Parts: sequence; C-alpha cells; structure tokens
Amino acid sequence: MSKISVGIVGVGVHVPEKVLTNFDLEQMVDTSDTWIRTRTGIAERRVAAEGIATSDLAVEAAKAALDDAGITADEVDLILVTTSTPDMIFPSTACLVQSKLGIAGCAAFDLQAACTGFVYGFTVAAQFIETGMYKTVLLIGADAFTKYVNWQDRNTCVLFGDGAGAVVLRRVDDGYGLLSSYLAADGSGADLLKIPAGGSALPGNEYSIENNLHYVQMVGGEVFKFAVRILPEAGTKALEKAGLTVTDVDYLVPHQANIRIINAAADRLGINKEKIIVNLEKYGNTSTASIPLALYDLYASGGLKRGDVLLFVGFGAGLTWGANVIRWSEGGGR
Ligand code: UT7
Repeated sequence: MSKISVGIVGVGVHVPEKVLTNFDLEQMVDTSDTWIRTRTGIAERRVAAEGIATSDLAVEAAKAALDDAGITADEVDLILVTTSTPDMIFPSTACLVQSKLGIAGCAAFDLQAACTGFVYGFTVAAQFIETGMYKTVLLIGADAFTKYVNWQDRNTCVLFGDGAGAVVLRRVDDGYGLLSSYLAADGSGADLLKIPAGGSALPGNEYSIENNLHYVQMVGGEVFKFAVRILPEAGTKALEKAGLTVTDVDYLVPHQANIRIINAAADRLGINKEKIIVNLEKYGNTSTASIPLALYDLYASGGLKRGDVLLFVGFGAGLTWGANVIRWSEGGGR
C-alpha cells in the first residue's frame, strides 16, 4: 500500500509590530546601514515587545493558518512547535500554544533543530499523517531571537528578528504534498553557534550573567562557509530522493540568513534568481520562522499554483541542515 500524501492546506504568519531599522541600529552599536545591507541583505527586522513570548507569536500564526485552512482548532490532533527560543525550559511552547488556543486534549510537543527546525518539523509532522495516526497537524515555526542577542555585539545583534509561521498539514491528493525530505546534522560543529548558558551544562548564575553567556554566540565566517556548501548539497539530495532535478523546481524557499549565502548557493545549484523567494530584507534572520514566512509571501502573492514544485532548504546551529521537496496541492493562494 502506498503511503498517504501529506500537504499544506493552510498557511498563516505573525510578526511583532515593532520595526527596528538598520538606521535605528546605527544609534545602538558601531555599525551602518550600508554594512548591514551589503554584507547581509537585511534592511529591518521585527522585535517582540517586553512580555511577548514565542508562544504569543506562535498562537497568532496558528490562528491565521487554521482560518486559512477553514478548520477550527478543535480539529487539530497534534501541535508541533519548532523553536530554539521557547517561552521557558519546560513546559513546551506547544503546550502553551495549545492552552492559548483552548484545545486541551490533543498531543503537543516542541522540536529543536535551530534554523533547520521547520524542515525537521515538516518531516516529523508528516509522518503522523502518512502512518494514519493523525488527520490534522498544526506545525508552527516560531522564534524570538531578539530576546537572546547582546545589543552591544554588532557581530550578531544586526542579524536576527522575531516571527512565526504556521501551516496546517492534512492528507492531499496522491502525488502531491511532501515528496521527499533529507535531514542531517554534525554535532561536532556545536560550538559555532550557541547560547552557552541557561541549560543543564551551565544553569544561570552570577558568572553566566557577568560573562554574557545567555546571549547568542556565533563564529559567523565558519557558519557562512558551512551554509554555502550545505544549502546546495541538501537541496540536491532531497531532489534526488524525489526523483527530480533542479530544473523541476518552481520555487526555492531557503532559510533567510544572508543574501550572500542564498545567492552563492543558488549559483552552485544552478537555479534561476527569479525562482528564489527572499524576504530577509524586511524580517532579518527569524530562525525557524524564516521558511514559513517566505512561503507565506509567495502564497499570499497568489503566485503558487497546483503542481508547482517547492524546495525548502534549512541550515543552522547544531550544526543541522535539511530540505523538503513539496508538490503544491492547493489553489492559487488567499
Ligand atoms: O541562521 C543561522 C545561520 N547563521 C548564518 O547563516 C550567519 C552566517 N554568517 C554570516 O552571515 C556572516 O559571516 C556575517 C554577516 C555574520 C558577517 O559577515 P562577514 O562578511 O563574514 O564579516 P566578518 O565577520 O568577516 O567581518 C568583517 C568586518 C570585521 O571587521 P575587521 O576585522 O575586518 O576590521 C568585523 O568586525 O566587519 C566587521 N563587522 C561589522 N561592521 C559593521 C562585523 N559586524 C559588523 C557590523 N557593522 N554589524
């Protein structure tokens, strides 16, 4: 028996209202709009207000996705939140989202694969439907990295923004939806991108606070080289598994970390620039939310049509990387 085809039947996003521009950052650290634009492609990012947590962003994206799918929250069998910036160590952000949606009873858990979270999450979520265990999964990628950047460290604070993107997954027509996934990790690169304190290795204490160990630390150049190498490799491997080649791809939806990474990887993949969805100029790097935020822009533009082949590619801390190939099953957008 062939497995059940699983696709996206609703998309929703949410970003905080507050916009922080490169010019605002010029007032905060020794940087410039020109440097940030030319080195990263970012012009502005969104910042969650004090008191607004990842679950608050996630639940708004979830409601929009459910609305778009035309289903009510009580039809959801599983809430899967991918995040590296959970509201707290436990309980999971997925449980907090469930409570805010008022739908006690369904399964809920978090998955942490940093900026590759959405690709990992899609792969995991789809299997619950493919096996027949669940009918409806709410997959949310949400992060609030501005809570974890050192606003005095120009190497990192200019890069990140907050946001959430959600999709509703259900059975779709055979041959549509998720065609293949490729997932990978290399934990030997764990030190290249991390928040060292706040976990069991180094719980918060005076030392961790005095030494800024609760903030993001990144060896930017090394992550850059890794990303340029891995993005085309992950994309090619997932396409191979689907029995497709890069010429079959209608849209590449990459993790939005740096326009130079995206362009270099696109050149290596041999994919046309018009096929690449880029929106990092307005949101910065939103980690696991970046792929669904970019997907939403494409979806909301009405540019997607049934049968289009999408390639999601993610990479990030862990190190982790991966890709999904999707044949779009729905109509032309909202
Ligand atoms: O989503 C998770 C994955 N994360 C990523 O993909 C990030 C990957 N890395 C990158 O995107 C890039 O490495 C960065 C954007 C972080 C940095 O770009 P770069 O071209 O690798 O710059 P660099 O770190 O080599 O720094 C070049 C210069 C340095 O000055 P010196 O030593 O040449 O005098 C930095 O101090 O630029 C300086 N610099 C800045 N200048 C102005 C670094 N950050 C800034 C800044 N404004 N914000």
